[in-house]
Order: sequence, then C-alpha cells, then structure tokens
Amino acid sequence: MLVNATKMLNDALKGHYAIGHFNINNLEWTKQVLLASEEMKSPVILGVSEGAGKYMCGFKTVAAMVKAAVEDLKITVPVALHLDHGTFEGAKACIEAGFSSVMFDGSKYEINENIEKTKEIVNLAHSKGISVEAEVGAIGGEEDGVKGNGEFADPIECKNLLATGIDFLAAGIGNIHGVYPEGWPGLNFDRLALIKKEIGDTPLVLHGGTGIPADQIQKSISLGVSKINVNTECQLAFADATRKYIEAGKDKEKKGFDPRKLLAPGAEAIKEKVKEKILLFGSNNKV
Ligand code: 13P
Repeated sequence: MLVNATKMLNDALKGHYAIGHFNINNLEWTKQVLLASEEMKSPVILGVSEGAGKYMCGFKTVAAMVKAAVEDLKITVPVALHLDHGTFEGAKACIEAGFSSVMFDGSKYEINENIEKTKEIVNLAHSKGISVEAEVGAIGGEEDGVKGNGEFADPIECKNLLATGIDFLAAGIGNIHGVYPEGWPGLNFDRLALIKKEIGDTPLVLHGGTGIPADQIQKSISLGVSKINVNTECQLAFADATRKYIEAGKDKEKKGFDPRKLLAPGAEAIKEKVKEKILLFGSNNKV
C-alpha cells in the first residue's frame, strides 16, 4: 500500500533527518529503490516526472507497477508515489491515476496565479488523502527540457503559498538540477534561514540533490530541509556500471546479452547509490 508523504516528512523535520525522493524511470529503478529502502529501513518517495511517466506508458501504468512491486517485494517501509514538477493537468491526472502525492510546480506563473492553481490542486488532492508539494521561484538547471535560471525563492512568496494548505514546499536556494557547473557557489544558507523563518513548521524540499557536498546536505537538513530529490546521480551510476559491463565484453560471453544480465550491474549500482544517500540523509532505521 502507498502512503502520502505528509507524515514521513513531518517526522523527518522533527527528527532532524531528510527523506530521499528518488526519481524512477522503469522497473529496474522502481525495484532497486524499493529494495534499498527496505534494506535500510527507511521511508522513501518514488518521484516520477511527467516525461518519465510518459516513457513508462502513462501514470496509470506507473501507479499499478509501483503498487504491485511494493506488494510482490513485500516492502514494509512507508512508500509514497509522487509526481515530480507536475503541470496543473499532470497533477490532476496523477490524483486520478492513484499516486499518493503530487507536486504542482506553478513556479513559472506569477505568484497570484501560482497560489490560485495550487489551491485547486490542494483541494482536489486532500479530498483523497494525497499530499501536495508546491514551488516558488525557479530552480536552476534543466528538468524535462525546461531550463530554470537559478533564481532564489522570495521568503514572503513562500509564506503566501503556504496559505493554500500545501504539505511541503520547494524553494530555490541556489540549487540546480543535474551536475553542478564549475564554480557553483554552493547553497545559500542565509536564504534558507530567511525562508524557514517565514514558513515555520512546513517541511522544505531541496531539489537538485545530485552532487551537493555532504556538509551542505547536512547543514540544509539542520535548517529545515526534510525531503531531498535525487535523479541524475542514479542515472550516472547506472550508465557507468552498464558501460563497464559492455566495455569488458561481458555481453558477448555466454548469455551475457540477456537483459536480466545486461541490466544487473546498473541495477546494483542504483541500489548502492540509494543506500549511500539514505545514510547521508539519516533516514535509515526511521520506520
Ligand atoms: P538531480 O537530477 O540534480 O538529482 O535533481 C533531481 C530533482 O530535483 C528532481 O526533482
């Protein structure tokens, strides 16, 4: 059974750790993120971008696959299935499809329109027990072909968005999706502290988790970050392990071309990466 992400994030905020949100792309990703979380006894959020949802046939397929995998793998830790950077229509579709959590990303709209649309999604989602993440200000980097300019969130806008009843908030503090560019100045903790002051006990979400140094991750958690999104790092780990397998000519030995063998090193690499992040975020043994 899937759960929404509200309780796990409120518990994380109180307990001074963060829950990992790991983006999934297919069955291998789903299975490895679930197995790693079970092994670490950590609650987990499976994130699905609209692009990845489309790639996996659609949101209904994703919801059915994740629910069945949780059951077949006998996963006992809390699992939330969450739409990542959803559009207004995408969020509605995921609420219908059986997701347990959605992000409505209205950061490209002017703040009043963002608030209005977020409120509508909150009402719809909460009537079904589904949690909602919203976003203020653009977060840098690229997500499904959309480039942000690395803006920082305005603390007052953050506070205003809370009035919609959202369960957790993504706010830019200099974080960027993908690999951080040379000369990236790091997270802006002054901005994070200002935002925290305005939003009180609402859990904060840190996007662009790939490549943020451990000390900055820990400091952000100490300042109120309770959910950290990781995508690129798992993709890179998968690609590296798969390349090594091919370059070593293993696909040409016996039945090494069998996808169950060909994809195994990459799958194992995803699992190890997720375990490493769970330890860094401190969510192990928190169920
Ligand atoms: P990375 O790809 O940088 O880890 O970011 C993931 C993310 O924030 C998904 O919303």
